[in-house]
Amino acid sequence: MIVLGIESSCDETSAAVVKDGRVLLSNVVNSQVDIHAEYGGVVPEVAARSHIEVINPVIRQALREANVTWDDIDAIAVAYAPGLIGSLLVGVLATRTLAELHNKPLYPVHHVEGHIYANFITDSTNPELKLPSKQPTFPMLALAVSGLHSQLMIFEDHGNYRLLGDTLDDAVGEAFDKVARMLGLPYPGGPSITTAALTGNPKAYSLPKAKLSNPYEFSFSGLKTAVLRAIQREVGVDHTFPSHKLAERLNDVQRADFAASFQYTAVKTLVDATVKAVEEFQPASVVIAGGVAANSELRRQLSERLPLPIEYAPISLCTDNGAMIAALGYYHAQVIEPTPVDNVTVRPSLSMLDTVWNKA
Ligand code: KG4
Ligand code: ZN
Repeated sequence: MIVLGIESSCDETSAAVVKDGRVLLSNVVNSQVDIHAEYGGVVPEVAARSHIEVINPVIRQALREANVTWDDIDAIAVAYAPGLIGSLLVGVLATRTLAELHNKPLYPVHHVEGHIYANFITDSTNPELKLPSKQPTFPMLALAVSGLHSQLMIFEDHGNYRLLGDTLDDAVGEAFDKVARMLGLPYPGGPSITTAALTGNPKAYSLPKAKLSNPYEFSFSGLKTAVLRAIQREVGVDHTFPSHKLAERLNDVQRADFAASFQYTAVKTLVDATVKAVEEFQPASVVIAGGVAANSELRRQLSERLPLPIEYAPISLCTDNGAMIAALGYYHAQVIEPTPVDNVTVRPSLSMLDTVWNKA
């Protein structure tokens, strides 16, 4: 079964073609990072306009690179939740039109579920792409970490999962982005913190880990404030000093040390919870998903501490992409009916726990 997947929930416009939920035939991603970088973050109206401009060419290119025509496409999947309303609307309306025009079954899927299914892609027509050697097996523990999510979940099977813990405040990717801004590092914060941290000392500043009663819940807002206070101390100003003026007072060594210390603590928080969940629930496999899953320190600490082997999706399938949406669409098609085109709407704040697929 060949599925076309379409993703436009935030600032990447992407279309991809995946066979049987496993074989990647194409994955075209148009990133708006350069457009939003000058504002220091995503501007929703600008994002929606950019999606409109590129979505049709991106879809055409995905079909062309996969070497398929509309006749070969068996179904279409689209990310309908969660995300920016204007961004989601562009992908959903484009997909509805194409499903109607070409008479294809349509599966609206949840973006975070999609991130997790990037781990099920194990083959590609592109030999350069380094993919996991096999698909994850159930029960599967999933750590979903992005700009909006920090969640640990147990999947008993496809479409049957439960939440172990969520963040109580900021998502971990959001903390990377905010700390990067404090340090004067460019948007998006995750990759720029990782780069700055390369030359930094992760033990230079001791930062506290939030202590919560549920070991699978997270809180990253306190860590962000602890970094702010440590920078203020380091440059010799009090807490009333404007935070946007702190970065210019840091030298490169201090900046690298703050990046490394923050990254180490944020990642250790995620890894402590994941290792504890493995001990308690004894899953057959562990996967990480979402933009922060691209983080090399997260991969290093996890591989070192997990008692079972773990494989990682390539970076291009961790950040937002259509391939994960197409892979997930295939598994939806195995257990649920397609949604009538007119019933497919956007759900900007739908929780993953409330999708129709879960416990279908
Ligand atoms: O999944 P994603 O591309 O979009 C959302 O669904 O939110 O995740 C974006 C988040 C951003 O906060 C970005 O800073 C973070 O992922 N990110 C990273 C890395 N690459 C992207 N965080 C840490 N290390 C990275 N290498
Ligand atoms: Zn995402």
